[in-house]
Amino acid sequence: MWQRENVVYNVVGVDISPLYIEEAKKQAEAYDVANLTEFVRGDVRNLRDILQDQQNFDAAVNVWSSIGYFEKAVEISLFNTLRDFILTEGRLLIVNAASKEWWVSTHDRFRTTSHGTYEDLLLLEKVTYNPCSSQMKMKWTFYRKEEGTLEHIATVPVKFHVYSIGGIHDLMKKAGWEILEFYDSLEDLTAYEPENIPKAIPINLIAKKRGH
Ligand SMILES: C[S@@+](CC[C@H](N)C(=O)[O-])C[C@H]1O[C@@H](n2cnc3c(N)ncnc32)[C@H](O)[C@@H]1O
Repeated sequence: MWQRENVVYNVVGVDISPLYIEEAKKQAEAYDVANLTEFVRGDVRNLRDILQDQQNFDAAVNVWSSIGYFEKAVEISLFNTLRDFILTEGRLLIVNAASKEWWVSTHDRFRTTSHGTYEDLLLLEKVTYNPCSSQMKMKWTFYRKEEGTLEHIATVPVKFHVYSIGGIHDLMKKAGWEILEFYDSLEDLTAYEPENIPKAIPINLIAKKRGH
């Protein structure tokens, strides 16, 4: 839900992970917006079926690198389908997605390893970035800490395409969207001006339907 200057929106959230859907419902309860939110478990490639009973939306929001997981043609079709569920004057927001420029400027190596602990879990992460294909490959290995030993729980491979600013521009155009502005940050709406502010940014953009 978004509430700004007394405007309240109803929100439908889609994710394939049942755990994320459960967490979203809990968060909605905690923020007292359960009556304004609906969370649907589903594969975004079936967006038309998932949203078939919904009215058209004022906006669609894609957050935190929820882009780049499919073949280019599928990605175009996905964003093109989304267009059908947005009002004529509606907007598409892509927020805080890793961009190629941002990734290259903030990482001095194309292979990195790191680890983190979450309660009794240990996560080892290995990231490989291929600049030729713009593919980011990650391997997450989870262990449970038990009395001085580590019990392996799962190893999860993840890979996605890291769009350049130009690449996302091309994707949006092919999917029927016109980018109105790129932003340094959507929190304070500082417009990105590569000629005046030549810095690498994640993908933060607002687009409208082409032709409207
Ligand atoms: C990098 S995370 C982005 C974070 C997430 N959007 C959020 O708001 O916390 C990518 C998300 O995409 C979801 N996802 C992956 N494949 C999907 C698919 N085919 N359909 C719908 N969601 C998918 C994952 O479950 C995960 O929550």
